[in-house]
Amino acid sequence: MTDADTYIHKLAISNPLIEPTVRAAIQALQLPLGSRGLDAGCGIGLQAALLAEAVGPAGHVTGLDLSPEFLLYAEATAHKLGLSEQISFEAGDVRQLPFDDNAFDWAWSANCVGYAPLEPLPLVKELARVVRPGGSVAIFAWSSETLLPGYPALEARLDATSAGIAPFVKGKKPELHFLRALGWFREAGLKEAAARTFAGDAYAPLSGDLRHALLALFEMRWPGVESELSPEDQAEYRRVCRPESPEFILNHPDYYAFFTCTMFHGQVAR
Ligand SMILES: C[S@@+](CC[C@H](N)C(=O)[O-])C[C@H]1O[C@@H](n2cnc3c(N)ncnc32)[C@H](O)[C@@H]1O
Repeated sequence: MTDADTYIHKLAISNPLIEPTVRAAIQALQLPLGSRGLDAGCGIGLQAALLAEAVGPAGHVTGLDLSPEFLLYAEATAHKLGLSEQISFEAGDVRQLPFDDNAFDWAWSANCVGYAPLEPLPLVKELARVVRPGGSVAIFAWSSETLLPGYPALEARLDATSAGIAPFVKGKKPELHFLRALGWFREAGLKEAAARTFAGDAYAPLSGDLRHALLALFEMRWPGVESELSPEDQAEYRRVCRPESPEFILNHPDYYAFFTCTMFHGQVAR
C-alpha cells in the first residue's frame, strides 16, 4: 500500500465514528438550499457528499485538495452516491485558492484549515476572500477524546507524546492551536464569529465498523508512541491498546468512548 492508500483507508474506516458529528455540524450551519460552497481540504470527499445533501439538488459543492489520489477516490465516491452533478473536485492549495473573489456562498474546511501545520490566519483570510459578503466560513476539527475508559493516566501520557498532540506540535505558539480560532476569525474581519462543539460516542457491544474505526483512531492518534513512553507505560499500552492483547480494551464488555469535534464559523463582512 502507498502512503496515500493507507491514509485513504484510515479516513474511510474512521468515517462511521465521526460522520454523525459532521452531520450535526453541517445541520447547525443551516446552509441555504441551492447555495454553492467550497470544501477546502476535502480529502476523500466524504464530507463534500454531506454538504451536497444539505444544499440539495439545486446546490453545488466544489471539493479542493492537494492530493490527486484523494481526489480520484472522492470522485468515485460522489459517482457511487449519484452526486456527480452536484459535486466537482479540483486539485489546489488552500494557501492560494484557484477561485475568484466572492465565488462561493460559503466555505467549509474540516481537519485542514487551522488544523494542518500551516499558519492559520492567512488560510482563514483566503477562505473569506472566495466567499461573497454575507456568506459563511466554517472550520471544523477534532478537538478532544476519551478512548481508554478506566485508564485516564495512561491516556493523558499517551496524549502528551509528540504524536498525541499532533498536528499541534510542541513549541508552537498557543495562538496557533485550533481552539484559538476565534482570534483568527476576528483578525480576518469575519462577523458574528461563533464556536460550537459536537460530541460523538461509541460503546459495547461495538459493531464491526465501529471497532475498526476506533482501532484506526488509536493508530492515528498515537502512532509510534512507544519510544516516548516509560517501560511501565509501554507495557500497559501494549496490554490495553493492542488488538493482540487478551485485555485489549475494545473487547471489554463495558467499553465506552466519546470524542468532540469543534466548529468555528463566521460571516464575511465586506
Ligand atoms: C486530515 S485530512 C481531512 C480530510 C477531510 N476534510 C476530512 O475531514 O475527512 C486533511 C486534508 O487536507 C489536505 N491538505 C493538506 N494541506 C493542504 C493544502 N495546503 N491545500 C489543500 N489541501 C491540503 C490533505 O491532502 C488532506 O486531504
